[in-house]
Amino acid sequence: MSVNVNETNPIVPPPGPCAMVIFGATGDLTKRLLMPAVYNLAAAGLLPEKFAVVGVAIESMSAEQFAEKLKADVKETAGREIDDGVWSRAFDGRLFYTSGDFGDAATFQQLGALLEQIERDLGTAGNRLFYLATPPSLFAPIIGQIAGAGLTSEDDSSSSWRRVIIEKPFGHDLDSARELNRDITSKLRERQIYRIDHYLGKETVQNILVFRFANGIFEPIWNRRYIDHVQITVAETVGVEHRGAYYDHAGAVRDMVPNHLLQILSLVAMESPGSFEADAVRDEKAKLLKAIRPLDERDVLSAAVRGQYDAGQVAGQPVTAYRQSPNVAADSNIETFAAFKVAIDNWRWADVPFYVRTGKALPQRVSEVAIQFKRAPFMPFRETAVEHMQPNSLIIRIQPDEGISLSFEAKRPGIAVQTETVKMDFNYADYFRQTPFIGYETLLYDCMNGDQTLFQRADFVEAGWRAITPILDVWSNLPARKFPNYSAGSWGPKEADELLAKDGRHWRNPSG
Ligand code: BG6
Repeated sequence: MSVNVNETNPIVPPPGPCAMVIFGATGDLTKRLLMPAVYNLAAAGLLPEKFAVVGVAIESMSAEQFAEKLKADVKETAGREIDDGVWSRAFDGRLFYTSGDFGDAATFQQLGALLEQIERDLGTAGNRLFYLATPPSLFAPIIGQIAGAGLTSEDDSSSSWRRVIIEKPFGHDLDSARELNRDITSKLRERQIYRIDHYLGKETVQNILVFRFANGIFEPIWNRRYIDHVQITVAETVGVEHRGAYYDHAGAVRDMVPNHLLQILSLVAMESPGSFEADAVRDEKAKLLKAIRPLDERDVLSAAVRGQYDAGQVAGQPVTAYRQSPNVAADSNIETFAAFKVAIDNWRWADVPFYVRTGKALPQRVSEVAIQFKRAPFMPFRETAVEHMQPNSLIIRIQPDEGISLSFEAKRPGIAVQTETVKMDFNYADYFRQTPFIGYETLLYDCMNGDQTLFQRADFVEAGWRAITPILDVWSNLPARKFPNYSAGSWGPKEADELLAKDGRHWRNPSG
């Protein structure tokens, strides 16, 4: 894990030479996230000095047209001013393109020849980063082709490396994830495989580790003796938009849980690693996921809730019902909201429920972890106005307004003893005065440096799918009868509130 990748104070050096090959170079991910992140690295002085980008896609275009398209795309999507000088220094004469069918071996021979020429002309030293920004059905075939064409072989005697970044979703259930793992590990070594989860590139997600393990005061209370329960919320205001063809097969659980939400859960709940070495951290994360208590059918019925949004309003704007969205079946049973209760079977977390929820078309875009502490064990304020005090809570805000806040009770000034819940607030933007990166920057930088800490290992991915498979199975066998069951712009179906109410708790809805 590279620390302090930041623009104003770059205390890390740029990586060594390499060529980055993007499969799906004309797609949305390249336009919205990948290339803006590559530009941000350039602006921060964190791209290799000897660097090239090779786009591969089906459309025919020249390298010049590709370069123009990338620049126009980044100008449109980067969310910041693009400095022409930075762009020219980083990319002039370094953006290449080759078109072809991913099923045709000739495409990869052509790519191999182009890479050799780039290595000769630009000195990228044979180091190659292959980025699979394609639909998931192409992951295994493309890896088969690049391996078959000899593009990924790492010669033990040479120092050049070949690494492959694989986007999500990694499989659509446990069996398909296992099969994909088997397939790609027969062609690549695990050290060459970088399964990406962009949540791990987010500053605040990485900060969970630093917050817990670089401070002495939190870890002693980070357990069942002091913590009542934990809530993890990843709420989005956007609906399905133009992604119906994908989403109407995936749904909220597949789309968000085995990756983003379980990443957050594992960082919040894992034991301290012996070091920040990639495998030390990844061992602990995988161990935590394996400690999630498996749900049986009855548990799914009582501890998991699904929802689908109906028409409504988000931030004053009308939103059409999910079932009326493009490429979504008019009688779709796919969930756009999911909430469930997770039990972790170990000494630290016995009897501490983790409530997890995610959904689209909710009232607020917010990702946060709320650690709810137990009440003070004794109230010396009986029969006064402060008999009912709020328990303390620690909120880790992942986005937006990245920060951490601790709420506690304070005495209101005055003669009567009256309390009020107040907050100690740490806000990234106020303190560090810089906008956090998109997230992909750190991950690309780490991959170029061969650091796998923030990437998912095969066992983590499989443990994640294993944890949610009972939910997927029960839900596919028992189609939802009451969909749609929440209005766009609300906090999900009422059953989600009942899930916590049964335990005498309630969701912390950030706006309410
Ligand atoms: C993606 C999901 O992985 O994450 C999307 O496929 C979701 O459906 C997105 O909108 C959320 O990412 P972020 O960074 O906007 O929270």
